[in-house]
Amino acid sequence: MAGQTPLSEALLAYHRDVSLREDDILRHLRDETDKYPMGRIMRVMPEEGQLLGLLVALTGARFVLEIGTFTGYSTLCMARSLPPGGQLVTCDITDKWPQIGVPYWEAAGVADRIEVRIGDARETLARLLDESGPESVDFAFIDADKVNYPTYYEDTLKLLRPAGLMVLDNTLFFGKVIDPAAQDPDTTAIRELNTLLRDDDRVDQSMLSMADGITLARKRERRPSAD
Ligand SMILES: C[S@@+](CC[C@H](N)C(=O)[O-])C[C@H]1O[C@@H](n2cnc3c(N)ncnc32)[C@H](O)[C@@H]1O
Repeated sequence: MAGQTPLSEALLAYHRDVSLREDDILRHLRDETDKYPMGRIMRVMPEEGQLLGLLVALTGARFVLEIGTFTGYSTLCMARSLPPGGQLVTCDITDKWPQIGVPYWEAAGVADRIEVRIGDARETLARLLDESGPESVDFAFIDADKVNYPTYYEDTLKLLRPAGLMVLDNTLFFGKVIDPAAQDPDTTAIRELNTLLRDDDRVDQSMLSMADGITLARKRERRPSAD
């Protein structure tokens, strides 16, 4: 099979039926999030949340960074996969959204693993670099304002340890990446990021055409020099 199977609503429903393991806590957080006008557009699909949890577990990550908390659905999926003593720093420009997630994080018993930092993510990343140092992060998920994605990518790459994994959401950006008429700053930034990622020999990468496009970028380990 060398082609992409189109995902109809019916096939997505089947996919969910046979693969989604969303428990009541996550489902209730999703329901509460979807009451807000932008909720459904902003949060990750539950399948993506489940994938994030699996990736955190697969990489054995102990220190996770998230850029773009919103109501904390993706935060909860990742925090649950941390080992004892693991830590997740998540940041958002406003505390209006993350505080909605807190009771759900508490109900899931992972609130003590999650630290929310409020402010512009560029400043939060700079502070984190000062505090924790380069190559201190095992796993990062980027899902905030699109216009800053190229900056988030570069700053997060500094923070990421060799063989650490970065996941970037919305890399197909509602299909706008292939629309020549779409010249807005968000779409332009995502296009810039995608070509940067394609050509960047600091990472191994794969773009999944799942949800709104999810790119996985694993930081390459430094090769020992020949001399
Ligand atoms: C797409 S939502 C994140 C969704 C979340 N990952 C989830 O699955 O529920 C993007 C979030 O980024 C935040 N944001 C926007 N600009 C930001 C900035 N400059 N710094 C930090 N957060 C920002 C927004 O407030 C919003 O909550």
